[in-house]
Amino acid sequence: MTELRRATSDVLAELEALRAADAPTHGGRVLSYVYDSGIPEIDELAAAAARLVQPVNGLDPTTFTSVAAMEAGVVGFARRVFGGDDEVVGSVTSGGTESCLLAVKSARDAWRAARLGTPRVPRIVAPITVHAAFHKAAHYFGLELDLVPVDPATGVPALADIEERLGDDVALVVVSAPSYPFASLDPVADVAAVTSARGIALHVDACIGGFALAFWPDRLPAWDFSVPGVTSLSADLHKYGYAPKGVSVLLTRGRDRQRHQYFATTGWPGYPVVNPTMTGSKPAGPLAAGHARPRCCVIASRRSRACASSVRPSDRCSPSRPTTPCPLSGGSTRITGPMRLGRLDGTCSCNRVSPSPTARCCRTPRTSR
Ligand SMILES: Cc1ncc(COP(=O)(O)O)c(C=O)c1O
Repeated sequence: MTELRRATSDVLAELEALRAADAPTHGGRVLSYVYDSGIPEIDELAAAAARLVQPVNGLDPTTFTSVAAMEAGVVGFARRVFGGDDEVVGSVTSGGTESCLLAVKSARDAWRAARLGTPRVPRIVAPITVHAAFHKAAHYFGLELDLVPVDPATGVPALADIEERLGDDVALVVVSAPSYPFASLDPVADVAAVTSARGIALHVDACIGGFALAFWPDRLPAWDFSVPGVTSLSADLHKYGYAPKGVSVLLTRGRDRQRHQYFATTGWPGYPVVNPTMTGSKPAGPLAAGHARPRCCVIASRRSRACASSVRPSDRCSPSRPTTPCPLSGGSTRITGPMRLGRLDGTCSCNRVSPSPTARCCRTPRTSR
């Protein structure tokens, strides 16, 4: 065995030992961190796709034209499934947080551009169920986050509560489709009617469930670009698109609005910098894997729906009963850490994905306090 071969096998053995101590990433026992399709061929496809582009730098799609083609494919797919027309443009980002950060940065810069020289601090108005990524965005980009209460039984805010917060200092209203803590679908069309009447941007955060909702078998209230006042939308392929980590989409209505997302400079002695997203050098692997994924969304959403509807309210977990039989697998569900947090009514729901590919079995919030 050569020295290099020995070193390779030592490193791989060490990595295998380290991985053995991780929480399981397959079998549906760890949720919210991993989204397991349960189909090994899909994992293999992603690994093969990522390997093909491993040396590529996603920084420059003019040098690596495969990046431009893959990005166009992913954005085009997302635009179609989220009801966008030719006016809707988009970028692939590293994840939900980056998509949300960029949506806020663009809205802030558009707001400022319309009010040159204003010393005012712009506001984001959002239900308290909005993902923490928007707290981070407000912190990073110097906006005030104005949180609106939600009905503890439904997880949904009242339109009047949002409307009364709207003013000229509001750069962005954010709603979720669905929200992480309650899995509730915010009233997107109603909110869009009041924001668009005032010329305020409206972001739909569909990071967690967008790629499932788009294929949901039941008729849902409109929540995507089919609603005229929606100005941007984020959705993660690395959640219910079942891609490996590192791929999300941010769609924006109108190229002029999207220009505020970019950072560009020639004011240094190096190369010209034109970055549509927050990263510089970036891997093309997650993009390649995301490019290969969308086909499994339809099947997965149908199975999620079947799983969710088969759970009787009496079978849902509660803090006093942390496990419950899974109606489809016959196994026992387990409550995972992050999903226990953030429940406004102090209850939890079981989060087992089984059998894969499905979404959380019993994601519906309990309706009693
Ligand atoms: C609704 C929502 N938005 C944003 C995010 C942030 O996504 P990420 O963890 O990929 O950065 C999440 C993560 O769960 C989410 O559920």
